[in-house]
Amino acid sequence: MSQVATLFSKTKIDYSWSFSDKTRKDTAYITHGYHRYPAKFIPQIVSRLAEKYTKDGDLIVDPFGGCGTTLVESKVMGRPSVGVDINPVAVLITKAKITPIDPQKIEKAFTVLKAKLGTYNKDTKVKAPEHERIDYWFKPEEKRKLAFIFAEISKLKDQDIKDFFFCGFSNILKNCSIWLQKSNKPTRDFEKQPSEPMKTFAKQIKMMLRGNARLFQLLSEKGYLKVSSKVVCTDARTIPAKDNSVSLIVTSPPYVTSYEYADLHQLTALWLEYTKDLSGFRKRFIGTSCHSKKDLVFNSELAEKIRNELLKKDRKTAEEVSTYFSEMNQVFIEMKRMLKKDGKTCIVIGNTNLKGVEILNAEVFAEQLQNLGLKIADIIKREIPSKNLPSVRDEKTGKFARISDKNKVSAYPTEYILIMEK
Ligand SMILES: C[S@@+](CC[C@H](N)C(=O)[O-])C[C@H]1O[C@@H](n2cnc3c(N)ncnc32)[C@H](O)[C@@H]1O
Repeated sequence: MSQVATLFSKTKIDYSWSFSDKTRKDTAYITHGYHRYPAKFIPQIVSRLAEKYTKDGDLIVDPFGGCGTTLVESKVMGRPSVGVDINPVAVLITKAKITPIDPQKIEKAFTVLKAKLGTYNKDTKVKAPEHERIDYWFKPEEKRKLAFIFAEISKLKDQDIKDFFFCGFSNILKNCSIWLQKSNKPTRDFEKQPSEPMKTFAKQIKMMLRGNARLFQLLSEKGYLKVSSKVVCTDARTIPAKDNSVSLIVTSPPYVTSYEYADLHQLTALWLEYTKDLSGFRKRFIGTSCHSKKDLVFNSELAEKIRNELLKKDRKTAEEVSTYFSEMNQVFIEMKRMLKKDGKTCIVIGNTNLKGVEILNAEVFAEQLQNLGLKIADIIKREIPSKNLPSVRDEKTGKFARISDKNKVSAYPTEYILIMEK
C-alpha cells in the first residue's frame, strides 16, 4: 500500500466536521441563501478552516468558486479574497452575494422597480427574447412577464443594484419555467403549473433584501465593509493572483461527469445572453463528459491504475476520468504557483464509483499535490448529513437496521477535506 493510501485508510470520521446541529437558517445566513447552486459547501466549513489557517489581512482564494461561499465567509472574517469560476452564472451570483448595498438605497430601488412592474398588463409592449431554447422552457405568458422584468432591470444604471436584481431574476427562472421541479437534469414537465413571475420575483427580492441588510450590518459592525473580494469569470488554471501571495485556498472541485453545470444554468445563461451555443459553453467545464484526449499528464500512479481498471469496463468513461485527473493536475500547478511558503490548500472532495470502479479522487489529488512538492498537513473525513433520516447499518451484521436498533452506525455519505501545505 502506498504511503498516501495508508494515511487514508487510517483516517476515521471526525464528527465535529459534520455540523449536524446546523439548520438551513444557519447555512443560509446573511447572503448565502440568495440562489440555489448544486454541490455548494456549507459556510461553516470555510470559516473553521480560515479561522485555523489565516490571520487578519491574509489572502484566501477559491479556484472553483461556485456561488461564492468562500468569498462571503472570507469577507465576514476580514480576509481579502479572490474567486474564479468558468460559469458566468456563478460569477453573477457571487457578485450579488459579496456586495453589501446600503439597505435604504436598495429598498428604494426596489420600491421604484415594483411600481414599474405594477404597470404591466396584457397590452403592455414587451420585447421578448427570440430564442428557440427559451420557447422550449417557458410558456408564452410567463415568458412575456419575465421579459418585462428583465427589461426593467436592464434599464437600471447602478451595476451593483442591477446584479442584485439579476441574481434574484436568475433564481426564479426554474420555478417560472416547465423544468421538472425536483430535477437537476434538463427535463420538461408538461403538467407543471409554472409560478407566476411577478409575485415570485417580489418574494425572492424580499428574501434577498433581508440577507443584504444582515450582511451590511455585520460588515459595518466589524469594520469590514471595504475588505476586498474579487470574482472573475475565468478558468481555474489562470487565477488572477500573484506568485507566492496566497495564504489559504479553500475549494470544492467539480466531480467527473456528475453535474453538467452548463445544462443546469442554461435558463439564466440564455436570458442574460451569456451564451448562444450550449455545446461550446459545456466544453469549458472541468469534469464534463466532453473530453479531449491530447497531452494527458496524471502525475499519480493511482490515477493510472484507475484509468486501467476503467479501460477494462468502458473506454469512454476511462477517457473522461483521465481528462479530469490531468486537468486537475494543471489546476494544482496553478495553486502551487500562487501559494505562499507554508500556505495551505484545503480541498473538499468525496470518492465516487463509475462503472463499478472506485474513483478515489481525494487520494489521487493527494498524490498529485505531493508529486508537485506539497506536504500533507491533515486529512479530515466528514459526514455529509442530509435532511432525510440516514440509512443505518448494524455494526455486527452489516445489514440495514432500524434507527432504534442497537449497534447501528449511520450510513451518511462521507467526503474528505484534504489539507496540503506548500
Ligand atoms: C462543486 S462546485 C463549487 C461550489 C462552491 N464551493 C460553492 O459553495 O458554491 C464546482 C465549480 O467548479 C466550476 N468549474 C468547472 N470547471 C471549471 C474551470 N475549468 N475553471 C473554473 N471553474 C470551473 C463549476 O462551474 C462549479 O461552479
